[in-house]
Amino acid sequence: MTTEKKDKGMPIGITLDPGVYYRCGCGKSKNLPFCDESHSGSADLPIRFEIDKRQKVFICGCGLTGEQPFCDGSCGVSLADRQ
Ligand code: FES
Repeated sequence: MTTEKKDKGMPIGITLDPGVYYRCGCGKSKNLPFCDESHSGSADLPIRFEIDKRQKVFICGCGLTGEQPFCDGSCGVSLADRQ
């Protein structure tokens, strides 16, 4: 994932129900941070992830995390202040 995304720079806090999700990997989705299949024909594929219980998660918006699709603090933002 590159850092040249429309939602770059900040973690995206969102509460998700249990299920399978696809994080947009191309930046073209009209439903960021989720894939809407706009990547068709692109090498930047979506990142699949599962949520097993309803919870608030922070999706990486900067592209620097080592724990895609989740923010790991590499952006410098403290998630402790955002819970
Ligand atoms: S938004 Fe990318 S590491 Fe926090």
